[in-house]
Formats: sequence, structure tokens, C-alpha cells
Amino acid sequence: MNKNNFNVLIIGSGLAGLATALKLADKKSIGIVCKTNLTESSSHWAQGGISAAISSKDPISSHISDTKIAGAGLCNEAITEFVVNNSEKALDWLIKIGVAFTKNKKTNDLNLTREGGHSQMRIAHVADTTGKAIQEHLIKKILSHPNITVLENHIAVDIITSEKIKMKMKKNTCLGAYILDNKKNIVNTFSANNIVLATGGASKVYLYTTNPDVSTGDGIAMGWRAGCKVANMEFVQFHPTCLFDVKDRSFLISETLRGEGAKLVLPNGETFMEKYDDRGDLAPRDIVAQAIDYEMKRKGLTCVYLDISHKPADFIQKRFPMIYQRCLDRGINITKEPIPVVPAAHYTCGGIMTDQSGKTNINQLYGIGEVSFTGLHGANRLASNSLLECLVFSSTAATSILNNDFSHDHKLPKWDESRVTDADEEVLITHTWNELRRFMWNYVGIVRTNKRLSRALHRINMLRDEVGEFYKNFKISSNLIELRNLLQVAELIVLSSIERKESRGLHYSKDFPKPDKIAKNTVLVPPNFKD
Ligand code: FAD
Ligand code: SIN
Repeated sequence: MNKNNFNVLIIGSGLAGLATALKLADKKSIGIVCKTNLTESSSHWAQGGISAAISSKDPISSHISDTKIAGAGLCNEAITEFVVNNSEKALDWLIKIGVAFTKNKKTNDLNLTREGGHSQMRIAHVADTTGKAIQEHLIKKILSHPNITVLENHIAVDIITSEKIKMKMKKNTCLGAYILDNKKNIVNTFSANNIVLATGGASKVYLYTTNPDVSTGDGIAMGWRAGCKVANMEFVQFHPTCLFDVKDRSFLISETLRGEGAKLVLPNGETFMEKYDDRGDLAPRDIVAQAIDYEMKRKGLTCVYLDISHKPADFIQKRFPMIYQRCLDRGINITKEPIPVVPAAHYTCGGIMTDQSGKTNINQLYGIGEVSFTGLHGANRLASNSLLECLVFSSTAATSILNNDFSHDHKLPKWDESRVTDADEEVLITHTWNELRRFMWNYVGIVRTNKRLSRALHRINMLRDEVGEFYKNFKISSNLIELRNLLQVAELIVLSSIERKESRGLHYSKDFPKPDKIAKNTVLVPPNFKD
């Protein structure tokens, strides 16, 4: 077999990509490409845990209802029921591959915790480094599997479809992808019978984010360009509590701190969440982030504080060892003092539309994990439902791939190498990147208005023309690929926000402050869409 030819090509090495690969590898040849290395992903940084209704005190109906309440009327009922019904199975799969979830010392049962919007303790975790523990186990298995080839430092540029190369097929079909080998600086053509986009979210489109650098919405942009429908991109989840640090790169302070009793306070120690919601500090994220934003603007504050110092020091150190240490490294002893926090872009609820098998509207192209829109999260994702979604849809997609016998040996066109000039103006790329992330933060953030959105759209259109010219004329680089994708995703977020003439969940507009009676998804159809 040609080295660039796989039965299944998986783009992304987060939980969605790796779980799908392992579920297929005994029967199919698998290629996994990832931008930098296998570990760089949001999955690796997941802290809080994975939600699963496994306690005898927690009926499945309660997890379903919490997901729907957080989703503010927009969760797809059938998908929500399906995912929650499969949550125990998903958790068992992780336990079987060796993930040692934190247990209750006395009972030896899993130690379940809580986050905003959950009415029950139902989140399984490995202290405060759940993602790292899961990913390390998966990576070990991936690296030892004979049918899996891993290509690090490989960046997918675009999907190759039958429509794009003008090949007559009954339905637009995915046949391969162009992938930049970032070490050798060449774009190779990959051929595959199935392609899985598992590229994660797009929160790097905002100035402040909890996400790693790889989260630039590449899969959403590639899917859109290839002809995939995209939904609900306006619902960007801002996590309420990211460490406020002006000097250093920031990081997430898990919501499970509040699940274990931490309180949000103003600089004078006054609590405030009870003014906004009966659930107080454990209200869903949209409500907490909007409340913090309001308090900060009202009082001219640079941050608010999260205080867990009333809990015993040894409990805090054991339960949150990573957060304790990382804060201590920056001079904050969380057992003694409150933590300065601000909201930051965290999760992309929208994405390329998929069905229950992870299939997009393009044949042989799947989307799994944060890149996708399955209908589970509605207008606001319930905390810790994302790792769960990655696992449940990796199973359904694997089944669908195993049950389809599509194969092709079409010769795919090589990457157009006519852009031979190396760009000597890298500063244009970094400048545009910074400008985009700043105005997205200021104009398309937690609170939106018609005026801010139309300003943002105007800027995006200008920058897209400039970057489009650059893309046509110069050799591509990882920065240019990401910037082009970020601009595409920014446009989708702004267009969806403009289309939603109401406030719901994570989308709050000062011009339309109330929700409509009927909840509807925002579905954007690309110009080259073919049914
Ligand atoms: P990711 O894990 O982000 O992986 C994306 C992969 O795609 C990476 O390997 C990247 O290199 C690759 N990639 C991207 N673009 C390209 C390209 N063009 N070419 C090649 N490769 C590409 N959710 C929970 O349920 N529970 C939690 O406790 C939790 N905590 C979180 C904490 C943090 C700090 C963050 C950032 C998120 C957290 N979330 C949590 C959300 C959750 O981690 C993510 O939604 C989930 O891990 C996404 O998994 P994924 O596999 O879809 O994408
Ligand atoms: C957290 O630990 O607060 C993040 C959990 C999530 O995003 O689901």
C-alpha cells in the first residue's frame, strides 16, 4: 500500500480521533495526522471529568433533563437521550483500557463530582487531570497498534471531494486530503476511503481562551469549503473561570472547584451569584459567565475571585494537585487566598452538521468531537458532556465505517505548486491574526449588539480579501493555514450571530434581549452545497 493511502484517515489526535482509531484498527488501516504532536489537544487539558449517570441516586432522566435545561431549549431530544443512555458504556470503555478514575477510599466506588448545571454528583474524574490520564492511556495503545500510522507535524489543508476535482459521482464524495508536512515543508496528497475530521474547536479565534494553540477551527473551515452544512456557530461557550494573569499564559480553573464548594466573590469578598440565579455558583456556564461580565463592567474590575480557601488545605492539595501547584508557581496559595479569575472562550457548541453516526452531508466524510454539531449541546453545553460526546460518536462512526464497503483507487491531483514564492512578510500574518482575535473578543464576545456584529463582519470581509490574496500567491505555512481557517470560522460565528434575532443560552444580544417562543437552530449552507 502507498504510504499516503489509508482505509481511514483521521485528522486529529484528541479523544475523538484516538478513540475512533482504536475502535477501527483491528479491521482497517488507519492514518492519524495531527498538527504538532499526539499530546497537544484540548482533550489532554480536560480537568473536570466526564459525566455519566451511573450512581443509583442519579436516574438517567435527570442527566437528560440537566443537559436540556443547560441547552436552553435547543438540544436535540433524540440525540440527548441517545448520548446519555450510552454514558455508562463510554465510561466503562475508558476503565477497561486502564484509566484509573479517582475512587472513594471508603467505598471503592468512583468519586463523582459536580459542575454548573448538574443537579447530581455524576462526573467521573482523575483528580484534576482527567484528560491527561485518558490521553496517555490511549496514546500508549495507539503507538503499539500495527494497523495505525501516526504522522505528527502534519497539518490538513483541505479535503479533496469528487465535486472539487470534477469527478462524476452520484453524491459529493470525500476521496482524500491535502496535508502539509510541516517539517519538510511540502504538501502531500493523501487518499482514503473514509475521512474523519476530529480537529476540535475554534476558540483560538478569541483573544483570551482556555484552549491550546491547535484549536483554530480547521475542521469546521475545511468542512465548510468542501460543502458541509454548519450549525449554531454563534454559541461560543465562555468558561467563567480562567486564571487572570497579565504576565503569563493563562489556564483553566476547573468548575469542579465550585462543585466542591468554592465561591465566586468580588474584591471585597462579597458573593454575587445568588443575585443572578437560584443555583448560585452552580448555575450553568452561560449564566455565570454573563454575571461575571456584568459585575466586572459595572464595577470597572479587571477580574473577580474564586475562593476555596475555607476548605481544609490537605483536601485542596489532594483533590486539585495540578491547579494548586500551577497557582503556587505564580505566587497564589489557593489554600489561603482567593484566585483571580476572568471568563475566556472555551468551547465551540456549533460545528459541521453530523447525524447519529457522525456522518456529514458529504459521503465518506465524518465529523466527531468538538468539530461537530450533533444537536447534543443546544445553546449551551452542559459541563463534562464533551468528552462523553467524543466517546459515544467515536463508537457510532466506527460502526458506520465498518459497515460500509466503499473503496476507491482514483488518482487524485497533486497539490498546486505554482505558488513558489516564500512569503517574506510573516508580520502581515501575525498582525492580522492579532487584529482578528482582538475584535472577535471585543465585538463578538459574551455580550453582542447589531452594531458590533456588523463592524466585525466588515473587518472580516476586508481581512479575508487580503489573506485570500496572500494564500493565492505565496507558499503556504502553518500560520497562513490557521489564519485562513480562523477568518472563515469568525465569519461563520458572526453570520450565525446576526441571523439569531433573540437571546438564548450563550448568545446574548442587547438588541434582542429576550428568547423567542420557538427555539430554532441556525443552519448555514455553503455556496457549493450539493444534496
Ligand atoms: P481536541 O482534543 O482539541 O483535538 C484536536 C486535534 O486535532 C489535535 O490533535 C490537533 O492537533 C488536531 N488538528 C486540528 N487541526 C488540524 C489540522 N488542520 N491538521 C491536523 N490535525 C489537526 N470537556 C469535558 O467533557 N470535560 C472536561 O473536564 C473538560 N475540560 C476542559 C478543559 C480545558 C482546558 C479545555 C480546553 C477543554 C475542556 N473540555 C472538557 C472540552 C473538551 O476537552 C474538548 O471539547 C474535547 O477534548 C475535544 O476533543 P476533540 O478530540 O474533538 O478535539
Ligand atoms: C472544567 O473542568 O471546568 C471544564 C469542564 C468542561 O469544560 O466540561
